[in-house]
Order: sequence, then structure tokens, then C-alpha cells
Amino acid sequence: MAFSTLLRPALLAAARSTRMERTITKVPITKSVVDRFVAGTTEPDAVEAARSILASRRYITIDYLGEDTRDIEQANDTAKHYLTLLPALAQLAPTAEDTGTPRSIEVSLKLSALGQFLPRDGHKIATDNAHKICSAAEQAGAWVTIDAEDHTTTDSTLSIVAELRQEFPSLGTVLQAYLRRTEGDCHDLSGPGSRIRLCKGAYSEPASVAYQGKHDVDEAYLRCLRILMDGQGYPMVASHDPLIVDAALEQATISDRGADRFELQMLYGIRDAEQLRLINENQHLRVYIPYGQEWYGYFMRRLAERPANLAFFVRSLTSTK
Ligand code: FDA
Repeated sequence: MAFSTLLRPALLAAARSTRMERTITKVPITKSVVDRFVAGTTEPDAVEAARSILASRRYITIDYLGEDTRDIEQANDTAKHYLTLLPALAQLAPTAEDTGTPRSIEVSLKLSALGQFLPRDGHKIATDNAHKICSAAEQAGAWVTIDAEDHTTTDSTLSIVAELRQEFPSLGTVLQAYLRRTEGDCHDLSGPGSRIRLCKGAYSEPASVAYQGKHDVDEAYLRCLRILMDGQGYPMVASHDPLIVDAALEQATISDRGADRFELQMLYGIRDAEQLRLINENQHLRVYIPYGQEWYGYFMRRLAERPANLAFFVRSLTSTK
């Protein structure tokens, strides 16, 4: 209880604090803990992680870490990382299967890292950067999905996605079940060709816009899941929660969806044995692989999700090894 009411909000606030970032990223021992959730800092690290996950018949999506960029050089540099990464990823899955549905290779983008909130022309800069990445992904036979960030970004993000989908109809986006608006967004976005990754939501949000308790968030997730599974798009069920995974498999049967018409998704380093068990049950499962230097915000959100993750971090600080 103290975790969800006290520690979780404190960790999510720390995830946005540059002062805390300076402190935490200086602690040398954190590297081993960060490595559990982040595949490394360079493109070769990401490609190596992708290769090993693909070899286990899981699909991959790669995220170059970074968010909330306030500098145009940094925004353009983030786009360049994806443009270097995509041809290297294409080498990993050069078969015809990878231009159909599902595609085994995907990249995930945060529009705020591509310049969405730059004071001048942020919307246009992020759209142009995402456009370049979508073009490169088409050539590489890869999918692109746009991540969801805090609720103040949702309208802007969905409008950029709608714009880009006119040229790149396979572009996917993420919806967060904890937002009260999301059931409506699921109705609007479950048409033919859409790809929606449904997650619970990882940011600290006020009660005016988001359900707060786990029970309410889970119920909202299940309502959204039904809408997407009954819709005409391709649902991507992103959760480590056994309740959600079981519900997704059951709902797929009710909605008459074969295993090729939806997928499960989990984060790198989380519930690896369960991921492999689901693959052995002939489900499609994609692993979200983050890499890059800017791991701080992503890492703090993982600590905020689960007391065991925080305990692991604290143990690493106090261990003498
Ligand atoms: P939750 O954290 O509520 O955990 C429920 C239960 O799952 C636990 O009680 C436990 O049983 C089990 N569980 C969870 N973690 C476990 C572990 N490490 N070991 C064993 N059991 C564990 N968020 C966002 O806001 N925007 C985004 O774009 C994305 N993108 C995204 C992509 C993908 C592929 C995933 C999987 C998640 C995201 N998220 C996200 C994060 C998401 O919103 C959410 O914060 C986390 O997935 C945690 O929620 P869960 O649904 O996993 O369950």
C-alpha cells in the first residue's frame, strides 16, 4: 500500500527531475541494475539484443531512449540513430514474411524525443523526423509504433499519427488504459488497418484524467481490450500482468481472432520465462528493447512499477561486490 500511495508517485516525480537524474546517474553501481532493463548504449548493442531475441522466435521493437527534448540538434540526432539502426535490423529478418502481418521487426518512437515540444515548430519538426523514420522503416520491412507519453501530449501525438498514417497506413500507436478518454480513443482507432498497442500507462497523472487504483485501471484495460479485439485493427497487448494476458487470450477466442491477428508485448528483461512459455504456446510475442545513454526516465518508471524492481536497485546500492 505504502508503495503505491507514497513511493510510486515519488519515483515518478523523480523520473522528471533533472536534479535527481544528475544524482542517480552518478552512482556507479546502478549500471548492473540498468543493464537488466536496457540493452546497452549503442546500435550494435541493440542489434545484438534483437538478434538473440529473434532467435527465440520472439518479435522485437527497439526504442532509442530519450524524451522531452528541448534542443533541435538532439531531436535530429535521435532521428539519425533510427536511420542508422533500421538497415542493420533489416539484415536480421530479410524474409518475405517480414513485409506482411505481423512483421517481426519494429521500432518505437517517442515524439517528444523527436522535437514535439520545441518552442518553435515543434509539431512540424517531430512530424518530419517521424516521417523520415517511417520511410526508412518501409524500406527495411519494419513497423513503426509511436509511444504514448504523459496526457498533455495525447492530442498532439494522435494528430501527428493520423497525419502520418495517410502515407504510412501501418503506423501504430499506443493507448494508455488508465486515461479516462482511452475507451473513446479505442472506438475511434479500431478501424481497418489500425495497429494499437494497449498498455496500462506509466506516468503520474491526476485523477481528473486518469483512473488511480490498480483495480480501476485493470477494469478500464479489459473494457479497452474488448473494443480492440472486436474491432478491425491489429491489437498489441502490452502487459506483464497474468490477469491481462489470460484475458487477452480468452478475448481473442471470443472475438474469433487467430494468433496472427493480435500479439502480446512485454518489456526487455521482464518475465523472460513467461515470454518463452507464451511463444511455446504458439502466441506472437514482441519484446520492447530500449537502448541508449538516456536511460534515466525509462529506468525510474520501471522502478515505480514494482516493489521488487525497487528492492533489486536498493540491494545493488548496498551490495559490496
Ligand atoms: P502491472 O505493473 O500492473 O503488474 C501487474 C502484475 O504483473 C504484477 O502484480 C505481477 O503479477 C506481474 N508482473 C509485473 N511485472 C513483473 C515482473 N517484473 N516479474 C514478475 N511479474 C510481474 N507505458 C506508457 O505510458 N507509454 C508507452 O508507450 C508504453 N509502452 C509500453 C510498451 C510495452 C511493450 C510494455 C510492456 C509496456 C509499455 N508501457 C508504456 C508501460 C505500461 O504502461 C506499464 O507501466 C507497464 O507495462 C506495467 O504494467 P503491467 O500491465 O505490466 O502490469
